[in-house]
Amino acid sequence: MSVGVVVTLAACQDSGAKNRAAAIGDADVGATLIGRYGCGSCHEIPGIENARGLVGPPLDHMGRRIYLAGMLPNTPANMVQWLRDPQAIVPGNAMPDMGLSRREAADIAAYLFKLD
Ligand code: HEC
Repeated sequence: MSVGVVVTLAACQDSGAKNRAAAIGDADVGATLIGRYGCGSCHEIPGIENARGLVGPPLDHMGRRIYLAGMLPNTPANMVQWLRDPQAIVPGNAMPDMGLSRREAADIAAYLFKLD
């Protein structure tokens, strides 16, 4: 995955969420990573077993939401940035930096963007 592809995708918001999701990463791998990192302890996430946490917002319809954390336009590039470093974007919020690689964040973003 080159950065160029992510930037291009971010510029074409009109293309469907599913197309964008397929292009930025592997959603199946993303689902596995979401389980492994325990995102479901804080979030309700459709399709992820036992993801019923209430600390953070539910992640349903993530492919159609306009903003991340109420402030960052919901593009693939911004989603990857948020997943890798939420503390840099909203210092002090309850989502910890989880040490995701760019690849892992892209795969997780691919899954979340499929949530229509
Ligand atoms: C300790 C609890 C916690 C964990 C673990 C956690 N999050 Fe979060 N997450 C939050 C909170 C709280 C917010 C809201 C932050 C804000 O709006 O400032 C959030 C926000 C988000 C958002 C933005 C949602 C929106 O509608 O704005 C996404 C996407 C997200 N988290 C995905 C993940 C993923 C994927 C993981 C696992 C890699 C994860 N989170 C792990 C607490 C957590």
